[in-house]
Amino acid sequence: MRVIITGGAGFIGSHLLDRLVEGGHRISVIDNLSSGDKSRVPDTVTLHQVDIRDAGAVADIVASERPEVIFHLAAQISVRHSVSEPLMDAHTNVLGTMNLIEAARPVGARIIMASTGGAMYGDGVPMPTPETQIPKTQAPYGISKYCAEQYLSLDNRLHGGAHVSLRLGNAFGPRQDPHGEAGVVAIFCGLIARGQTPTIFGDGTQTRDYVYVADVVRAFLAAAQYTGNESVLNIGTGRGTSVRELLEAVNAAAGTAITAEHAPARAGEWKHGALDSGLAARELGWHSSTSIAEGIALTYQQLTA
Ligand SMILES: NC(=O)c1ccc[n+]([C@@H]2O[C@H](COP(=O)([O-])OP(=O)(O)OC[C@H]3O[C@@H](n4cnc5c(N)ncnc54)[C@H](O)[C@@H]3O)[C@@H](O)[C@H]2O)c1
Repeated sequence: MRVIITGGAGFIGSHLLDRLVEGGHRISVIDNLSSGDKSRVPDTVTLHQVDIRDAGAVADIVASERPEVIFHLAAQISVRHSVSEPLMDAHTNVLGTMNLIEAARPVGARIIMASTGGAMYGDGVPMPTPETQIPKTQAPYGISKYCAEQYLSLDNRLHGGAHVSLRLGNAFGPRQDPHGEAGVVAIFCGLIARGQTPTIFGDGTQTRDYVYVADVVRAFLAAAQYTGNESVLNIGTGRGTSVRELLEAVNAAAGTAITAEHAPARAGEWKHGALDSGLAARELGWHSSTSIAEGIALTYQQLTA
């Protein structure tokens, strides 16, 4: 299969890249390396250091590579930045995705996009939340991803595309930036490995659906083979885990008993999240298979290896 991965030098994208390389596919990566790491892209893979906001460059690459599938993971990923810089968020996540859609259509490429389940639904919704729930996102990031999904689904209806958006829970695993401001598992693992005190924003009872990165990668690979009609699927465990429980699991993996400091809850945050992935089970044959404890142990081991 000929594929392009946008964001292939990033956390999830590079895990997907590894699996596709193992599968012997012809792969190229589009990544502006704003947070990605060039060393994650092997020499056998063509790296186009390009911004997805550059419509002309994206069109040229897609026209020359002629992919069958574009795994679209490049994005502005920070909820907090989306609150402070909503225009930048929309430019990257909405217009960047539209650039890909316009480039994909002439070559008949399918786009499998990383959307968000965690930031999509907001509070006061059924748990676990199905895709049929009307989104009530608490941050521009959720709106920009929802909007990008809508353009992909519209392309399916209007032009016979076969694009799919995967609404991911909070992905975690090795390579997530432990110094970043997103990815609480990575941040806790990094701090505890350095013997430092983590900060919990709010009271720590807020829950999210944490899904291990290898399980997420399997969902992308299954979506690439999918021939059904669904265009939006949740990818999560169905279970919310609190920030306090996460810290306990990281302490268990590290053999420590470090307690957290508390700070006020942040703008754009929502209280609870858990995704109903029944549709992904039926349509893609996908289930998460890695428990939080197993995933955190693997993440901590690789960080400290
Ligand atoms: N990590 C999660 O928990 C999570 C949850 C839901 C959805 N997602 C989505 O999954 C995708 C991957 O997230 P991640 O956690 O691996 O993030 P990441 O920051 O590690 O990866 C994003 C990659 O995209 C690249 N990139 C960013 N802006 C770009 C641009 N304008 N042009 C070209 N490349 C650009 C970065 O350099 C990086 O390599 C994103 O679309 C994100 O919104 C992630």
